Amino acid sequence: MHRLIYKSRSILVEVDLETINDILERSKDLNRKFNISGALIATRTHFLQTLEGAWKDVNSTFFRIVADPRHEEIELVSFGPVSGRLFEGWVMKGFGIFDLNSDLETALKKKFGVEEGGVKLPTEEWAALSLMHDIKLINQ
Ligand SMILES: Cc1cc2nc3c(=O)[nH]c(=O)nc-3n(C[C@H](O)[C@H](O)[C@H](O)COP(=O)(O)O)c2cc1C
Repeated sequence: MHRLIYKSRSILVEVDLETINDILERSKDLNRKFNISGALIATRTHFLQTLEGAWKDVNSTFFRIVADPRHEEIELVSFGPVSGRLFEGWVMKGFGIFDLNSDLETALKKKFGVEEGGVKLPTEEWAALSLMHDIKLINQ
């Protein structure tokens, strides 16, 4: 089992829920087929995604994603073996962290910083995992 995390910038001026749903609609079938689980976190400007599965499936999915013209400035945060899935049972769940209540948004901005008016999506592995855990907790 391997986990890969990357960050990228959307080519759109402003990401909205429709953008996230559009991306995930086709992704879900492919992720199910390749047994990939994970989460896609979006701010108005950036994406942070976790992909979990067999090495070769995570690798090929990532290369397809990298080639997608809907985003750019792709930064690999981490890719390595893990003992289990963080997102067991989640084919790929999308979270827009721009429609949060203001207390929550303030707390996330305090913890992770601010980028272009939104929560700064981290590029350090520990911080990215911490954000993934926070989002998972909030949505349980
Ligand atoms: C931010 C972002 C996240 C994506 N996540 C996934 C994903 O989890 N799984 C997937 O198969 N495709 C994902 N895609 C879509 C792929 O880039 C691609 O469109 C899709 O896999 C279909 O590939 P194909 O057009 O070569 O058939 C994502 C695209 C973007 C922009």
